Amino acid sequence: MSKAFYVTTPIYYANAEPHMGHAYTTVVADFLARFHRLDGFDTYFLSGTDEHGEKIFQAANQAGMDPQQFCDRISQRFRDAWQVLDISHDDFIRTTEERHKAVVLRLLEALYAGGDIYYDEYEGLYCVGCERFLTDKELVDGQCPDHLRAPESRREGNYFFRMEKYRGWLRSYIRDHPDFIRPAGYKNEVLALLGEPIGDLSISRPKGRVPWGIELPWDAEHVAYVWVDALINYASALGFPDGARYRTYWPVAQHLIGKDILKPHAVFWPTVLKAAGVPLYQHLNVGGFLKGHDDEQKMSKSLGNVIDPFEMAKKYGSDAVRYYLLKDTVYGQDSSIGEQFLIERYNADLANDLGNLLSRVRALLTRHTDGVLPAPAQQEADQAIIAAGTALVGQVRSLVGRLRIFEALETVLQFVRQLNRYFNDEAPWKLAKAADGRERLGTVLYNIAEGLRIVSVLLEPAMPTKARQVRTDLGLGDYAFADLEAWGQAAPGTKIPAKAAILFPKSAAGKAKRQSPSKKEAAQVEQISLEEFAKVQLRVAEVKAADKVAGADKLLKLTLAVGDETRTVVSGIAPWYQPAELPGRKVVLVANLKPAKLRGIVSEGMILAADDGAGHLVLVGPEQDIAAGTEVR
Ligand code: MSP
Repeated sequence: MSKAFYVTTPIYYANAEPHMGHAYTTVVADFLARFHRLDGFDTYFLSGTDEHGEKIFQAANQAGMDPQQFCDRISQRFRDAWQVLDISHDDFIRTTEERHKAVVLRLLEALYAGGDIYYDEYEGLYCVGCERFLTDKELVDGQCPDHLRAPESRREGNYFFRMEKYRGWLRSYIRDHPDFIRPAGYKNEVLALLGEPIGDLSISRPKGRVPWGIELPWDAEHVAYVWVDALINYASALGFPDGARYRTYWPVAQHLIGKDILKPHAVFWPTVLKAAGVPLYQHLNVGGFLKGHDDEQKMSKSLGNVIDPFEMAKKYGSDAVRYYLLKDTVYGQDSSIGEQFLIERYNADLANDLGNLLSRVRALLTRHTDGVLPAPAQQEADQAIIAAGTALVGQVRSLVGRLRIFEALETVLQFVRQLNRYFNDEAPWKLAKAADGRERLGTVLYNIAEGLRIVSVLLEPAMPTKARQVRTDLGLGDYAFADLEAWGQAAPGTKIPAKAAILFPKSAAGKAKRQSPSKKEAAQVEQISLEEFAKVQLRVAEVKAADKVAGADKLLKLTLAVGDETRTVVSGIAPWYQPAELPGRKVVLVANLKPAKLRGIVSEGMILAADDGAGHLVLVGPEQDIAAGTEVR
């Protein structure tokens, strides 16, 4: 039996148009779904819309529409958006569907029958934006930090679920399953929340006030609270409790959410499942925010334009937008995005590194091998490419398994750059002119084509259309990840098509290209003399140990070997690097910087990193191995 994979997006409120935040979570989910399909998993991918509750009811009233018709319209907008972005969901659930309502009733009945429901009067602070009561601790200056509004004081009779009763159990469960909520920062947040009483959960609204919802099975004067209704979609779409899909996919359910809806997913949902006697989902994957134009607080002026994914998809193609969203964000963290960065990514990775290589190899194949993939005669000089190409799928699988998606894509792109270097070093255009160069020419061109085959399959989850185009342009069909572990699966003799459109036309990105901030900055930057530069002492250092700094999310304390000396450096790289991955790495140290105290630790220097200002940072190190302590000039 094949392995199963089930991934869900949040179901989106049917009260407003889809925007980039929704697109982001959905593109990540689509990436994972496509990735697992190619990796041989029996995959199910669910998205949908959340259509009940006070917020939707108010929005429909304001639009002067019947709530169901209002939801029909917005739900369709989400489906249209997912089509534009090439989202491959297997199902799209709406909470106003009968198949969903039936499961909600069933689960509520189970809670009621289990004695976990009681009726009480309640008074609290309610945020309609969040559709939940907020605790005093969650408020910032008296306001909901996500919706920047003061919550309303509410007093009403509600049915309650005995959530507090399950707090201790949930706390232990999360401790015993360290991968249940990831990245770990969010797990710790939930554990902290569970360190204090969480109270019981109001699970109903009086119908007199909120008529738009599912009536409780035991009291028709109340409707189910929208969060309890909505969370159940993940099980109802599978045909809970007897459906074959439920049996196959529920044990491996992975939810993808934004950090704003952590509490309902990490606290309400598992406790409800536990009380109803249903096993828990497997993983809760929590993403950060994209900083976008719909929230001024999250916008950064210095970054220029923010992007609307649908407008961008029209301009640059859906694949470029998907690739950009996946490559320029660190899953789990907030990221700033902008059109300018998309253009830079498009030009550098897609048009130059990938697109140019494809068109160069096609041109030489057409000209010198009759448009046919030649049979290779591998030599020593080809072994590095072969080893790197066949190792790639394992590396990418491991990174994606840890949700390090941008690193997985960067690993593939590094191999594309290696192929470009191989192409330039072997200079097939010169081989074509040499009297005895034919065989070598054929081998080099074959290896580039084979490398591009592997690359295209690994990029397919991010860019389904363009990745297939790479293969079509080389006369190749579809492959699974299992076909990437051995070199040589592009069959020699394959005829490549005579004509092909340019993979990533520069014009698309070129037209909109403004002067990049870096160039502008470069023009304004003060120039220094060689003597001034010589004052800076740069040295290669080896990381011996890396530790988190208590109370500082961004800082790591590094112990560095610099020749015979040991130095301590505090560096703000924690959002990008885990302490465990650093020991053994060589970095570049500014060795004569005046020591400074950070969080009580004396930092003796600074290490260099490249930072694109868009949330992507990589350490700078020597290109080949060299002794720690060596001077960098
Ligand atoms: N209906 C609830 C979810 C119920 S799931 C059982 C809901 N809907 S929502 O439409 O308001 O937002 C859904 C999700 O969209 C957020 O949790 C988040 O995943 C995503 N995003 C919305 N804005 C976002 C950003 N600006 N950035 C990244 N994602 C954010 O909450």
